[in-house]
Amino acid sequence: MTPPSGEGAEPTPYQRFGGHEFFTNLVHNFYQRVPKDPVLREMYPSQDLEGAEWRLRAFLEQYWGGPETYSEERGHPRLRMRHIGFHIDGAARDRWLSLMAASIADQGMDAQLESELWKYFVAAAFGMQNVPDPTPESPVTFPITSIPNTEA
Ligand code: HEM
Repeated sequence: MTPPSGEGAEPTPYQRFGGHEFFTNLVHNFYQRVPKDPVLREMYPSQDLEGAEWRLRAFLEQYWGGPETYSEERGHPRLRMRHIGFHIDGAARDRWLSLMAASIADQGMDAQLESELWKYFVAAAFGMQNVPDPTPESPVTFPITSIPNTEA
């Protein structure tokens, strides 16, 4: 039987990843890249990148079983709702993921942990997209009335 807490308890994912130091390094690395990214730098608050860094780090620490400081300071995450004000299309999603992939690569992680973290970020980033990709069924981006009448 697994003891609920204390010595011998199963480590949380937060601990397995490397705790506060790991999340601090990962998220700091990510935010070092944001101002250099042509798509993302327009979206993030240039005057408050340190605040943004704190918010993402605190959220991730809480999500993976670490301290719950994010919710103490910010309330329920409701992340999709908090992203509604940003135009997150496929390009923004892919830029975000590519910056995060580079930040993860810099951490030199154990392959299994890296894969666990990466799968989570891919699913989360697709979930945050709020401007859909054009689909083959509906690639039309102009008003249908603009089709010229060629029958006359
Ligand atoms: C899909 C691409 C994404 C884009 C373009 C994007 C963009 C942004 C922007 C512009 C902000 C505002 C920065 C701030 O002042 O805090 C923000 C906030 C935030 N994002 Fe994202 N984001 C994306 C994906 C994600 C993902 C995948 C996660 C989590 C795994 C995430 C977690 C957060 C958190 C925790 C905040 C702060 C929320 C708050 O407390 O206000 N974002 N994001």
